Amino acid sequence: MLAKNTQTKALHWLGKQLFNRNDPAAFFDPLLEKLDPMLVQGHTPARIDQIIQETSDTRTFVLKPAGRWPGFQAGQHVNICVETSGIQRTRTFSLSSSPELWAQQGVVTLTIKRLSGGLVTNWLHDNLSCGDVISLGEAFGDFVLSEPPRPVLFIAGGSGITPVLSHLETMAAQDFRAPVSLLYFVRTQQDIIAAERLKALENRYSALTVNIIATHKNDTPRYLNSEDLNGVPGLKARQIFLCGPQGLMDLANELLHQHGVRKADIQSTFFSAATPPLNPDLANQTLGGKVQFAKSSLEASSEGDASLLEIAEASGLTPRHGCRMGICHQCSCRKTSGTVVNRLTGQASGPGEESIQLCISIPHGPVAIDV
Ligand code: FES
Repeated sequence: MLAKNTQTKALHWLGKQLFNRNDPAAFFDPLLEKLDPMLVQGHTPARIDQIIQETSDTRTFVLKPAGRWPGFQAGQHVNICVETSGIQRTRTFSLSSSPELWAQQGVVTLTIKRLSGGLVTNWLHDNLSCGDVISLGEAFGDFVLSEPPRPVLFIAGGSGITPVLSHLETMAAQDFRAPVSLLYFVRTQQDIIAAERLKALENRYSALTVNIIATHKNDTPRYLNSEDLNGVPGLKARQIFLCGPQGLMDLANELLHQHGVRKADIQSTFFSAATPPLNPDLANQTLGGKVQFAKSSLEASSEGDASLLEIAEASGLTPRHGCRMGICHQCSCRKTSGTVVNRLTGQASGPGEESIQLCISIPHGPVAIDV
């Protein structure tokens, strides 16, 4: 039996752990995780309910998130976090299901293609089984329909179809009446992701026209061209969504511009494990500089277009990040001095204190940041 004094001290300690901690989840989660990973409070756990093989390299993971997950809008993305080789890794994927499915059945889907050299995509394919639990972030992104509804054109390439699937399922569920066209570019017929779902959508949703184009059917590749756009009635009145490899997006932007479509009517999102594209305006500029990581008391130098995130990682630091492509804002941090350029827009920051995104900021001379 414990002495009264020891009992009091133990109770006092427990009370402190229970009530005075800044982060109770950090204390209880390891225990809860052992009991049932779906009880964890520090992040939203999501259980794998089903895995669907879409093509030889693409799978749809059907997830059942804990009920407190706040939901999403069609076309939005989420970060998922998994532990591989003892390291927590976060990546961004777009949801491929509709908010209606989440509301009615409490499930969401992520359709994920293996990327060559992709640490996380390959790990997900090779390791996840039904019943496993992963961590799901809140949805974000503005690849969403404008209000009021108007005719829409989606131009998608490869796995860029995933947010489009979410939109199409949603539009069909809501019986969106304006015309909707999809131009979907795949390498070969075998690479069509969600072929059955697309066929079923076209059959049951009369406003939708689907045109799937195999780019490598013949010896000469067949890419997006002017005739494809001429075949879309009322092109200039449509809200246009682009999602796919950078080459397709560049070509689509150029052709749409030639067809008189306003920039403001085009929304783009891209997904790739590679570094986000460098704005052409920066191509001939001398970039790089000395970076001071103030909190870590470290200094590093860079030349060329390496981002602050890459420079920090090369210096052995592990700043918080998600998508690595300027979408999720998880890498936002304080720049205390110096100028950076945004690799997506080519815009230069001011010289003083401000918030920047590490993954798309390239030093332009000496820079100090709170990392
Ligand atoms: S990591 Fe997502 S915006 Fe930088």
